[in-house]
Amino acid sequence: MKHQIIILFVIALIFACAVLGVLVYVPDYQLRKYFNDLVYVFATTVKTVTVIAGLGIVLAVLIALLWLIAVTYASGVVWRSMARSRRAEALKLEREATLIVTIAPPGSQVYASEISGKLHIEHKPLYLAPGIVSGSGAEPTWDEVKRWSFFQLTQNISKRPDVVTEDVPQLQQPLPEYVDLSQHVTVPSLRNIFLGVGRLPNGLIQPINAPLSRLVHIAVAGSSGFGKSTLMQALGYQVINAREHPVTVMLDPQGVTFTSFEGSRNLRYPLASEEQDIGAILQDLLVEMEQRKELFSHWRGIDDLGKYNQVVDASGRLPVIPIFFDEFGLVADSKVIAKSVKKLAQAGRKFGMYLIAGSQTWYSDEISSSLKANLSTSIQFYAKSKSQSRVLLGAGEASQITRPGQAFCRLPGQPGLIELQAPDASSVLDVAPSLAMTEMASKPLMPQSSPDDLEQAILDLYDEQIKTGEINRAAISLSVFGSKGGNQYRKIDEVLAKFGRV
Ligand SMILES: Nc1ncnc2c1ncn2[C@@H]1O[C@H](COP(=O)(O)OP(=O)(O)OP(=O)(O)O)[C@@H](O)[C@H]1O
Ligand SMILES: [Mg+2]
Repeated sequence: MKHQIIILFVIALIFACAVLGVLVYVPDYQLRKYFNDLVYVFATTVKTVTVIAGLGIVLAVLIALLWLIAVTYASGVVWRSMARSRRAEALKLEREATLIVTIAPPGSQVYASEISGKLHIEHKPLYLAPGIVSGSGAEPTWDEVKRWSFFQLTQNISKRPDVVTEDVPQLQQPLPEYVDLSQHVTVPSLRNIFLGVGRLPNGLIQPINAPLSRLVHIAVAGSSGFGKSTLMQALGYQVINAREHPVTVMLDPQGVTFTSFEGSRNLRYPLASEEQDIGAILQDLLVEMEQRKELFSHWRGIDDLGKYNQVVDASGRLPVIPIFFDEFGLVADSKVIAKSVKKLAQAGRKFGMYLIAGSQTWYSDEISSSLKANLSTSIQFYAKSKSQSRVLLGAGEASQITRPGQAFCRLPGQPGLIELQAPDASSVLDVAPSLAMTEMASKPLMPQSSPDDLEQAILDLYDEQIKTGEINRAAISLSVFGSKGGNQYRKIDEVLAKFGRV
């Protein structure tokens, strides 16, 4: 490396000596001429380069502008074709839709597309009548007709508008989240039982009222805490205070739902919660049904209570018997109860005996399917699964319910489901907790169930002894049980108390 540097240095030295030698021999004027030539060549080169660069820049700008115009044009073409395909898709959807919803303030003029052929879309001028939340909607007023005429003039439309009434569902309106019974029921009547505020299958939202005789038997279902008992209280309030004076029955194995009605004069029996009492009451109601059957048999062409009451004297008229039965599923295992309920559901309507039964589930192993078939109105609150919702409703909608009081119902003779916000009766009922009163006066009596063989034997011996004026429990015990002791005496006392002997 060192050698190479030394060699390069020597070469550079020889070259410098050679140049100096040439300069010594070249005359002065010749050197200046060479220099001037050099400057001239440099200046010319610089000018040429500048001109060429300027031309290049102008050309580049021109090309960029042309490119920009081309890109803008191309994207316009693409955008228009995209919009065209979107419109085609929208028209296809419109053709395939069964219902096209037009949203506009009431009273305004709208155009609705009437699809009358495969690709033939006709725009039809329609008039949205105001105030059509419920009811049939009114004919347009003069003011509205004038507005329409002006519209006709300006739009050059020769046809008078069709007045749209039921065809415009108020789909956007939500169901109320709370319905106070007192706001909807002033004079309770069996002809106008209020079930809640509902959304009909066509989207209209309106109060749902129907006569009890049309609802017939009502089945209420739903998971715990979603409003079964609240609805039964609201129905109970309307029935017990109805101006037709029905004689009401209220059964609830949990003994909580109907406590606000305790002691009411319009109850046929005291509120019943013990399985035995419920069984006895249902048996008694079957006896009543048989008696009514007997009475009806004296007449021809009488197939319901209304007709019977029209043909007999005022004194012979029979009251409607609405039978409320909350938490029915808790005692549905009892054969006596299940059988009696089934009989009442099958034949009660004709004799004015209507069941309003509530239970968390209505699976067929709890009650026979024939019972379900006879419960003509179904109200389903929240169900844990679609399959549970289908049991009573035949549809899975109730599994999507989100709040207490919200339900889906199926009414006799009404196609489709009605979404319902059930009423709350707490503003009209005394639901504040209080100590139960033990006062017995004027209370209706619980019907007696008939004694079994053992009970009958105890009663017979007791009745014999009472004639002699001397009661001997030991003798009864020995005779009936073959022994005597605390358990036997207790049983004897229970039987005597049960059948009103003590
Ligand atoms: N229609 C309603 N409007 C407003 N709140 C309601 C309504 N129904 C029920 N609720 C609320 O839900 C609570 C529980 O209702 P409810 O006792 O009727 O349920 P349930 O279905 O009978 O339950 P369970 O099966 O446990 O007896 C009520 O105390 C009340 O707060
Ligand atoms: Mg309840």
